[in-house]
Amino acid sequence: MGITRSFFIALSNNRLLNSGAKKWGFQLGAAKVVAGTDIPNMMASVRALNEDGISATIDRLGEFVTSREEATQAKNEIIQTAEAITEAGVDAHLSVKLTQIGLDIDEQFCLENIREIAAEAEQRRIYVNLDMENYEHLQPTLDILHTLREEFDSVGTVIQAYLFRSEQDLDALQNVRLRLVKGAYQESEQVAYQSAEEVDSNFLKLIKLRLDQPVFTSIATHDHHIINAAIDYVKEQGIPNDRFEFQMLYGFRTDLLKELSEEYQVTSYVPFGKDWYGYFMRRLAERPQNIQLVLKGALSK
Ligand code: FDA
Repeated sequence: MGITRSFFIALSNNRLLNSGAKKWGFQLGAAKVVAGTDIPNMMASVRALNEDGISATIDRLGEFVTSREEATQAKNEIIQTAEAITEAGVDAHLSVKLTQIGLDIDEQFCLENIREIAAEAEQRRIYVNLDMENYEHLQPTLDILHTLREEFDSVGTVIQAYLFRSEQDLDALQNVRLRLVKGAYQESEQVAYQSAEEVDSNFLKLIKLRLDQPVFTSIATHDHHIINAAIDYVKEQGIPNDRFEFQMLYGFRTDLLKELSEEYQVTSYVPFGKDWYGYFMRRLAERPQNIQLVLKGALSK
């Protein structure tokens, strides 16, 4: 793992900078990859995506929350987002990080919060994805998912290809809608592949295993090598197009996503809100060339 990746991941975890960023406002080019700081601005972006044939998964930014007040406020705003989806009549669903609604405070409290969100979403026929965070939160997230699935059908999660255990998890989640990703956090060699080659090879293996199953899968990547290999496999195996989609993050490779939308279902992951700092730093960690976004953003002020 390059020093630059570790550097940006360390910055993403810095609480002081995180809280500072909320006060500084929307700086450093974040506006290119974050769809505004409030619901109306975000909805305008979602409408524009829909007009291009692109669905959206909306993430009200925030993570590693340690106070109950903040977690409750996040839960309320996620419910408002669900209401806004119905009111605007847009093609969109929700992505939620459980640490934002209390996973680090008390698991039972977090479960109550996500249950409220899932109940509201189900009533509105909106799918809810539980985003996968760092390794420490993996098992608690899966435990909460299992409890939720006893009550709600339209809830799923994410499998990270860099983890050794992911093939087993994928197997155990055969009936659940899943998003497959490479993995965005810095994990130890005890639990995760460290080289890009190993991660890519496991990613492709998991994609193929999953595409063989009759359940919906989101292939979430900007990597055209992976996308092309997935398309080859789909064609080879005659896998129907309604069984999978491609997902990309808002602001990245928009042209490629539009091109894919001509043949396949596609979704853009649309983050919004004041708490953009950690998200933004992880994007820089993944691809230091994204630093251009910072420079362009700063220069265009
Ligand atoms: P990666 O960054 O490894 O790039 C591989 C190659 O693709 C590059 O070398 C380059 O050739 C090409 N490429 C990539 N980006 C490009 C660009 N902008 N322009 C041109 N070429 C480019 N992670 C997690 O841990 N939990 C989660 O819940 C999620 N959720 C999620 C949702 C969605 C919709 C996406 C797209 C991603 C996530 N992730 C995630 C993040 C994911 O784990 C991963 O960190 C990033 O997607 C970066 O990996 P990529 O697969 O995009 O390719």
